[in-house]
Parts: sequence; structure tokens; C-alpha cells
Amino acid sequence: MYSDFKTISTYYDALYVNDREYTPEATKVKELLTRNGVPLHTDLLVLACGTGGHIPYFKDDYHVSGLDLSEDMLDLARKKFPDVRFHLGNLIDFELETDFDAMICMYGSIGFVRTVDNLRASMKRIAAHLRPGGLALITPWSTVEDFQDNIVVNAADRPDLKIARMEQVRLKEPAIVEVTFHHLIGKNKEVTYHKQSMEIGLFSREEYLSAMADAGLQVVEEYTGTDVRGGVYIGKRAAG
Ligand SMILES: C[S@@+](CC[C@H](N)C(=O)[O-])C[C@H]1O[C@@H](n2cnc3c(N)ncnc32)[C@H](O)[C@@H]1O
Repeated sequence: MYSDFKTISTYYDALYVNDREYTPEATKVKELLTRNGVPLHTDLLVLACGTGGHIPYFKDDYHVSGLDLSEDMLDLARKKFPDVRFHLGNLIDFELETDFDAMICMYGSIGFVRTVDNLRASMKRIAAHLRPGGLALITPWSTVEDFQDNIVVNAADRPDLKIARMEQVRLKEPAIVEVTFHHLIGKNKEVTYHKQSMEIGLFSREEYLSAMADAGLQVVEEYTGTDVRGGVYIGKRAAG
């Protein structure tokens, strides 16, 4: 099942993209990239970039481009950042003409590949597009070890757009989490209700690490602090 972001894309930024979370996240990611040998002003690909929420935080320091599976999310990203190159592609099998010095995959977006086989395939595609010594920085979508059922609640309140958001996060199958979005959207003097479920793969730490190692990415660091939502696994492609 592909989790369709069509409807959510139109109000994704209002609900999910904010300086409060993205600033410390991007600052920490840059620190991790630098510490692990990625120089500034090299080629950085933002995987599953969505509407490009992270792009402004990286585009002055790296040659940034993005990749995502959703045309709708990419349309918005392209409008916001006309000078940035965005690729339509699936983590599982993407094939680009360029290689990169680093790739980042934020906010647990890797979980949308859903199965361990797809996780392993994705890591192979990532490794195949990294230059020798290049870095992959992956934020897991929770892990088997730390997952808990949850109900998330918050709201966005802008003059032209008001959203009340509840999301039910529950274990549906042993390795599949179902997120059910209940969004009340107030726009153009009307309130509409949007309900949608998405399925996300719940992988163990070992599954992440072995998928990276078997793809040829040596895990050089794990960041478990709170600046980056979900933490980070960092894999390096062997030099030369
Ligand atoms: C929760 S959004 C996060 C967007 C962005 N990373 C951020 O943090 O703002 C997840 C994104 O992953 C993308 N996605 C889901 N499955 C994908 C896949 N198999 N390959 C590439 N992108 C995918 C979706 O289209 C969506 O834009």
C-alpha cells in the first residue's frame, strides 16, 4: 500500500513544518554531517523531501536537491524553491544520473517503504548513489524497541486556515503501524473533515543497521538525542 499524500499535501506545511522543530533538527544534522567528514558546499540529496520543509535550512550550505514519490508534495516543493532540483522517485528503486556526497532522510519517512525487504532495497539504492566516503543519515520511523500506541493532538491557527488534528497511531500487525488521520480543516468559510489511514513499517534497530551494513554502508554513528525527531543512523560508504 502506498500512503497517498494528495489531500494532506495542501495543508502539510501548516500542520507539520515549523521552525521550532526544523531549526534544531537541521542544525544537528549539519553538525553530524560535518563531524563525519562531509564538507560544506558538496552535493546533498534530501530523500522523501515532501514539500521541501528542510530545504531552506540546507540550501545555503550545500548543493541541495530533493527526491519524493508524491507528485503533489513535489509540486509544492517546486513552487517554493524554483531554483532547487527535485526528482520524482521511489526510495526502493530510484535511479538518478548523479551521485551525492550525502543523503538525508528525515522525520522517519523511510518507514513508508513498509517492509524489511523494501528497507533493504532502499539502503542499496542509497548506497549506490553515494560517492566513496559519502554519508547517509537516516531517521528511523520509531523502532520495535521504542514504539508505543499513541493519540496525537494539535492545531494550526492561521488567518486563512485553521486545522484541528488528531492522529491515532496503533500497531496493526507485528511490523506495521497504522496511522489514522482525523483532520478538521477550516478554509474559505467552511469546515471539512478528512480521514485517512497510512501504513508504516516498524523495523527494529538491528533491521535498520543490518540493512545499512549489507548495502555497504558502515554505521559510523547513532544519534539518540532529542534534536532530531526519531534519532539518526549514520552510514558511510567505503572510501575508494
Ligand atoms: C511525513 S512526510 C515527510 C516529508 C519530509 N521528509 C519532512 O520531514 O518534512 C513523508 C514523505 O515521504 C514520501 N514517501 C513515502 N514513501 C516514499 C517512497 N517509497 N519513496 C520516496 N518518498 C516516499 C511521501 O510522499 C512524503 O512526502
